[in-house]
Amino acid sequence: MGTPSIVVLDFGAQYSQLIARRIREQNVFSVVLPCTASLDEIRSYSPLGIVLSGGPSSVYDKHAPKADRRVFELGVPVLGICYGLQLMVHVLGGKVRAAEKREYGYANVEIANSSRLFHNVPKTLNVWMSHGDEAVELPPGFQQTASSRNCMAAIENAERRMWAVQFHPEVHHTQHGSDVLRNFVLEICGAKPTWTPQHFIDASVADIRERVGKGRAICALSGGVDSAVAATLVDRALRDGKGHSRLTCIFVNNGVLRKNEFEKVQRNLRDKLGLHVDAVDASKRFLSKLAGVTDPEKKRKIIGREFIAVFEQEARRIAKKEGKVEWLVQGTLYPDVIESRSVRGPSQVIKSHHNVGGLPEKMKLKLIEPLKELFKDEVRKIGRDLGMPQELLQRQPFPGPGLAVRILGEVTPERLDILRECDDIVVGEIKKAGLYSKIWQSFAVLLPVMSVGVMGDQRTYAYTCAIRAVQSEDGMTADWVPLPHEVLKTISNRIVNEVTGVNRVVYDITSKPPSTIEWE
Ligand code: XMP
Repeated sequence: MGTPSIVVLDFGAQYSQLIARRIREQNVFSVVLPCTASLDEIRSYSPLGIVLSGGPSSVYDKHAPKADRRVFELGVPVLGICYGLQLMVHVLGGKVRAAEKREYGYANVEIANSSRLFHNVPKTLNVWMSHGDEAVELPPGFQQTASSRNCMAAIENAERRMWAVQFHPEVHHTQHGSDVLRNFVLEICGAKPTWTPQHFIDASVADIRERVGKGRAICALSGGVDSAVAATLVDRALRDGKGHSRLTCIFVNNGVLRKNEFEKVQRNLRDKLGLHVDAVDASKRFLSKLAGVTDPEKKRKIIGREFIAVFEQEARRIAKKEGKVEWLVQGTLYPDVIESRSVRGPSQVIKSHHNVGGLPEKMKLKLIEPLKELFKDEVRKIGRDLGMPQELLQRQPFPGPGLAVRILGEVTPERLDILRECDDIVVGEIKKAGLYSKIWQSFAVLLPVMSVGVMGDQRTYAYTCAIRAVQSEDGMTADWVPLPHEVLKTISNRIVNEVTGVNRVVYDITSKPPSTIEWE
């Protein structure tokens, strides 16, 4: 049996992942499964409790998502949230109907009596609501425990171990929302708060050791957080008594990395973490293939294809030198896993980027994905406990095709040099202002648009640099960030003064949608 968990059944809510994250913040493991999960699958996660998520449907819709009704008979506590409440009422013999007024946004809730769910929670709460249906008749044995002006805000049948709330305790706007979830998870389900980063590290190292045995693994490093944390975990598992590791990390210079990135990443991973890094400078090969190419998707394809070729070549070399390689480590995260199997389906994923996609099938390697149950912030915590440098853990996402999608049009060595300098100034100044780790992404883009300028007595005719800074949760949507005036001023001054080839700096003030984060 695996780690005891709280299973969240996903009925298509925007907030399902958030429920699992809030539960994990109590140091209790939680998984999100599609509502159609079989009882066997649910049981395989050793559930201590079940949460039924919200969802956009009405229980009376023809295609309303349903769960196996035997989840109510598993003998573990069940908490319904929003649609989860309505489904509970509907399935167990109560009545739900379309509310006269849709309730969306803040609402005041009065808690009526001493429910265990509201233990140590004030009697009046400001909560977040988002529903069109409401419960009007409760199933036998249920009672109402809280109300808002418009609806039954909470109900329960403590004897049958069922609780439900119409509001969303998982969103930050709900006062004491995390207390409500903590009461459910720790008090009602009796979960122990033992799921800590250290526990995760120990359990995964043991698990990888058992699976891989004496086998050998390789890993592609991108310089980013996920692949570095995944590699460090696997490295711990595959070290022998003499400190020799059976994991080799391949780090490819594809010619479109940032200024000094190739050296910096090696220093961080090799010197600070002791990883066995095979660094391959293939920049010439990539740049010669990119010459004359202007279409962004073609650039991506070329970089992806060349990467696989270089990686395969290195893997063969490593196998020849060290012995047969059977395993490939990948830094896949939990949101990717949930998205690909949720009730909403993969169609909701606006863009997916897999830089090493195709590798495992082609090379017939078995996968180790030690982070596939973690969210990004949890990966950072694991990295911290593994002793990884802050500089690496706080790094903003950087696309696989690198600066190639930040130079509009053709990628040339000259343009790369210019963009590297601009980017270095942008990132440097944002770090200096203490903003780097607070912003999702901030970078420079080179526009091959020449405009007229004047410097001293000289007329110039040079490129334009665009500055982009965005805030985002997951890269799917993003808001542009209004950087402080002083920071913009310094960036602009420094770029036009220090970077030959640029005489104009502009600021991108569009969000996603309608724009994308990258310019290509
Ligand atoms: P867009 O430009 O689609 O970017 O709004 C969303 C997020 O994805 C990153 N991105 C990529 N990452 N390969 C990657 O590994 C790519 O081809 C790619 N294109 C965009 C982008 O930096 C942002 O974080």
